[in-house]
Amino acid sequence: MDKQKKQPLLLLSLFVPLGILRMQCVDASSNGVNKLFVFGDSYADSGNLNKSTYSSWKPPYGITYPGYPSGRFSNGRILVDYIATYYGIPSPVAYEERESGTTEYGVNFAFGGAGVFKTLFPVPNITGQIDLLQQLIDDKQTPYSQTDLLTSLAVVFVSGDDYIYYAVSHAGSLQGLAAYANSVINQLVLDLKRIHDLGVPNVLVSGLGPLGCLPPATADSSYTSCNSQVNGFPLFHNQLLFKSLEKLNFQSMEPVFFLLDLYDAFLAAIQGHVHLPDGGILEFENRLKPCCQGVDAFNFCGDTVGGQPMYTVCPDPQSYFFWDVFHPTQQGWYGAYLVIQPFLPQFTET
Ligand SMILES: *[C@@H]1O[C@H](CO)[C@@H](O)[C@H](O)[C@H]1NC(C)=O
Ligand SMILES: *[C@@H]1O[C@H](CO)[C@@H](O)[C@H](O)[C@H]1NC(C)=O
Repeated sequence: MDKQKKQPLLLLSLFVPLGILRMQCVDASSNGVNKLFVFGDSYADSGNLNKSTYSSWKPPYGITYPGYPSGRFSNGRILVDYIATYYGIPSPVAYEERESGTTEYGVNFAFGGAGVFKTLFPVPNITGQIDLLQQLIDDKQTPYSQTDLLTSLAVVFVSGDDYIYYAVSHAGSLQGLAAYANSVINQLVLDLKRIHDLGVPNVLVSGLGPLGCLPPATADSSYTSCNSQVNGFPLFHNQLLFKSLEKLNFQSMEPVFFLLDLYDAFLAAIQGHVHLPDGGILEFENRLKPCCQGVDAFNFCGDTVGGQPMYTVCPDPQSYFFWDVFHPTQQGWYGAYLVIQPFLPQFTET
């Protein structure tokens, strides 16, 4: 908790018994959440991929924060880091790093490249990631009793790897894509219900971002305008997902499942509509062009040949929304966070 909030509580401690003080302390500093369980793909991975193979563990990833590659697909912090800050806790440890950290604040099970179904990458799908949580709950050594889980929150990112696999394995033909989206969402709904059934009271799930604004879709226009045709698809997926969540909440007779609208959040940030806490506007000088790019179509940010970088990095990542051709910069994520922050659930029953 920060100093500002600590001050009145210290005063309070003169008047109230310790038990009550501690309850209030949880409320004030953490909005009632003290564990995050994160599932998903490279928008959420904080270090689960193999260090010797993936670019998230190579320079220039992490150059802004923490100053070296940290397994995140960004120059610095990602959205889950900001969400953890909102709840007043450290970012949860990556599952693969759990031996060297604490699992007290939850665990990040997200693997870059993961999807609900099979994708181009040999990483655990969402079902497999939930299996990992289940193992930790079953293992009595971890601080995950049913009571501990009452103050936990799950965040699930499914950002499009299922559809990339679909497009590649169907030779680019998008016939049947709508039916496929239906099956992705149906399986995702089962996954979300399972997380809740394990004892996690609330579950946030991301919609797709504006895929038509990602650098591969805007390169044709020299990074000047989003491709509105491509953007039709994420809107369709998000609508389906939203309806399914409404139905789920109706069935459980209480709001349990929340949509994290990355579509609106990314667009607001890209278009310069995000208000900073100090009242100013968050502006990106480079709204669609990525900061870090391969030198040609065969190389990506982070690639090297014989130790020589096969990419270029912009001098000022802060002024870019996109870090590489798929992922936002730290400043981009911060902008998205400012948009979604008012919608993050708060819990007072602790
Ligand atoms: C990571 O990849 C390397 C090279 O492909 C392999 O030798 C190693 O076993 C992998 N490590 C893990 C933990 O999977
Ligand atoms: C997830 O991965 C496991 C292991 O590869 C596989 O058995 C299972 O069918 C997959 N689940 C889905 C929903 O595709």
